[in-house]
Amino acid sequence: MGGQGELPGLTADEVEHGERLSGRIRAAIVDAGGWISFARYMEMALYEPGLGYYSAGARKLGEGGDFVTAPEVAPVFSRCMAGQCAEVLAGPGGEVLELGAGSGAMAAAMLAELDSLGTLPVRYRILDLSADLRTRQRATLAATVPHLLERVEWLDRLPEGFEGVVIANEVLDALPVDRFAWRGGEVRALGVVAGANGFQWAEAPAGPELGSAVEAIRRECGADWPDGYVSEVNTGLAPWLAAIAGALARGVVLLVDYGLPRREFYAAERSAGTLLCHFRHRFNDDPFTRPGLQDITAWVDFTAVAEAATDAGLDVVGYTTQAHFLIGNDLAGRLQEVAGLDPVQRVNLSRQAMVLTLPGEMGERFKVIGLAKGYDAPLRGFAVRDFRHTL
Ligand SMILES: C[S@@+](CC[C@H](N)C(=O)[O-])C[C@H]1O[C@@H](n2cnc3c(N)ncnc32)[C@H](O)[C@@H]1O
Repeated sequence: MGGQGELPGLTADEVEHGERLSGRIRAAIVDAGGWISFARYMEMALYEPGLGYYSAGARKLGEGGDFVTAPEVAPVFSRCMAGQCAEVLAGPGGEVLELGAGSGAMAAAMLAELDSLGTLPVRYRILDLSADLRTRQRATLAATVPHLLERVEWLDRLPEGFEGVVIANEVLDALPVDRFAWRGGEVRALGVVAGANGFQWAEAPAGPELGSAVEAIRRECGADWPDGYVSEVNTGLAPWLAAIAGALARGVVLLVDYGLPRREFYAAERSAGTLLCHFRHRFNDDPFTRPGLQDITAWVDFTAVAEAATDAGLDVVGYTTQAHFLIGNDLAGRLQEVAGLDPVQRVNLSRQAMVLTLPGEMGERFKVIGLAKGYDAPLRGFAVRDFRHTL
């Protein structure tokens, strides 16, 4: 979330950091013969060890950072999410595994809520690529739920035979994507070259994986794409989901993110793609400014998520908007608690509910998809409205 506008300046340290990462990316471009895919660029900009946006020390989430997420602005989001997890944990039991836990805000609020619901899992596991954020997560948990810290375990890789609930809020949008242009009746890969004034877009013939992925999308929804149509494809999604499916022995996976079913994602009028960069609460569409200092994201094709999940042996058990998911998880009941709050807390809670559910805020842009293995009870988050037929 954030606005568009003039971007604030950088400190000398930030400039130096950006230059070091740019040097590393430039070297990768030279090694590759002068051109790299956008997915490779995005991977380095976000995750290059010690230098990428998520790997290094930028503040990232929260007021002093670049963007805020639902758990950051609205703890009631995490409490509803805990309610959904409690429904699964109260059945066959198990643990919680959070992927990409950011500042630790959701883990802290979820643990507190699961505690008050009497459904604390023996372990709450976190897997995050960012060592910097892991440190921050531990600090958040130590400050807010110190008595529950011993239940939290940080993992370096996916576990084996996991049973319980896997959750990931705004992680899919941070996975590197490939970019393509539809030009002259052909799929062209939009990659990155190093020019005199920094990195630039450059087209190249699409490789077989990108080419066949885009051809399949085009057959399904691109009949009226104009020449020069640009969009993104996440070719890393299927292996990512297959790894999660492989780690899951029994349970539910809940993925929350901004995105659309494929037909809307690849509609002709969305002809400039979905890339969005965040820097100090302002957004822009230029991933080549401030490498390592700004977040780069892309919207999620939820049809691709559903297909990859099915291919990996998971059942798609629900797909709905964030607003409907939260309403199904008793958002209204949690708002009733305002009776015991002071006026400022009451206003805060109402404001949180509005940000989470209004169509112009996060309510419709964000979706929740539920995937399951060996779990067939209905999930209340999908009971109000289930939009699986749109995928
Ligand atoms: C946009 S932040 C969202 C943080 C948090 N879930 C929230 O909602 O506030 C993305 C998070 O995903 C992590 N991440 C990105 N790719 C990941 C991956 N493949 N596996 C695990 N974590 C990942 C990042 O380090 C970061 O913590």
